[in-house]
Amino acid sequence: MNYGNTVQLKVYQNLEKNVVPVTYEELERKAKEKLEDGPYYYVAASAGAEETARANREAFYKWKIVPRMFCDTDERDLSVELFGQKHAFPILCAPVGVQSIVHPEGELASARAAAAAGVPFISSTASTHSLEKVAEAGDGAKWFQLYWSKDREIAASMVKRAESAGYGAIVITLDTPMMAWREKDIEHAYLPFLMGQGIGNYLEDPVFCSRLNRPPSEDMQSAIMLWSQVFGNPTLTWKDLEYIRMHTSLPILLKGILHPEDARLALAHGADGIIVSNHGGRQVDGAIAALDALPEICEAVGDEIPVLMDSGIRRGADIVKALALGAKAVLIGRPYIYGLALAGEDGVKQVLRNILADLDLTMALAGKKSIKEIDRSLLKKV
Ligand code: FNR
Repeated sequence: MNYGNTVQLKVYQNLEKNVVPVTYEELERKAKEKLEDGPYYYVAASAGAEETARANREAFYKWKIVPRMFCDTDERDLSVELFGQKHAFPILCAPVGVQSIVHPEGELASARAAAAAGVPFISSTASTHSLEKVAEAGDGAKWFQLYWSKDREIAASMVKRAESAGYGAIVITLDTPMMAWREKDIEHAYLPFLMGQGIGNYLEDPVFCSRLNRPPSEDMQSAIMLWSQVFGNPTLTWKDLEYIRMHTSLPILLKGILHPEDARLALAHGADGIIVSNHGGRQVDGAIAALDALPEICEAVGDEIPVLMDSGIRRGADIVKALALGAKAVLIGRPYIYGLALAGEDGVKQVLRNILADLDLTMALAGKKSIKEIDRSLLKKV
């Protein structure tokens, strides 16, 4: 049986209970009901007037799928290959920091759920649980996302720790050398890091701790102050990439690319992959929608390195459109965080299950039996 049909049957026969709403909008609404304002808006809100967050969705409406008929889609294959590794599905869990603000188990629950669902998990630098603990949560593929510290030895240390903990790739996020103007967070005066959440990777980092007079267990306030001084590094330029390259043999992906010229620079500086993303509209409000940036970036890099994409993926049809416009895989962000907020590990598992079932059925009904067959000819711009 194919993925989508199997899920449908199990649900209709009451063999699997819905533990979270199936509809994205309802997921978000229920999360709002459950969470305090601070954590809810930290997840749901974006930068400024949230115009880029809106544009991320509107970009999908401009493209329509034109289904093909008589294509024999009885046997389907959702797998993709990335960096020599075969993955069952073309989706990954996006790096999302401070997951403990929506559920006490935070990243550990999400990583276990992703592993159970067969979806690679990208663990954020800003996780509450350390990357070593996340590595042990579930037996699935994991990548590590790096926020490059002002103290570059801390950045190198985290990358080396990730490699020895078994992570398969390093994702360097370029769009957040500092936090954007996020109106809701300012309104609620809410920044979880200052309460000691989302800094687990720093508290357990030997280089970070060597910069403190006393260990975090004895003086948490000083550790938090140091974190606030070293987080983010706006001085970086393209030539700095070499430094991380020196410290790891893992593939390096650059996340946050929106300009085709930056995609060319990424290629020229030896990046192994690109993630087209505007951070879900959380950084530059007014920035181009990620889906709108995708085709030109794919054109700029050709087949040299894989291009992945996130920002606004909510359903199966969104994934089909992003793949048709050239993405090799997409990252799921807010949907799985709402699943985590509402039902922990089971909630994340079910959100991923639903998105994959929807993807499988949409692909089949559009006349495609594998991810490889999805290309631009499946879409019409309206
Ligand atoms: C993020 N994102 C993010 N990205 C990253 O590289 N490191 C991080 O620590 C975080 N943290 C984070 C927290 C929260 C609450 C959100 C919602 C997002 C961005 C994330 O990886 C991804 O780019 C966006 O979530 C994509 O947008 P949508 O599809 O979730 O709207």
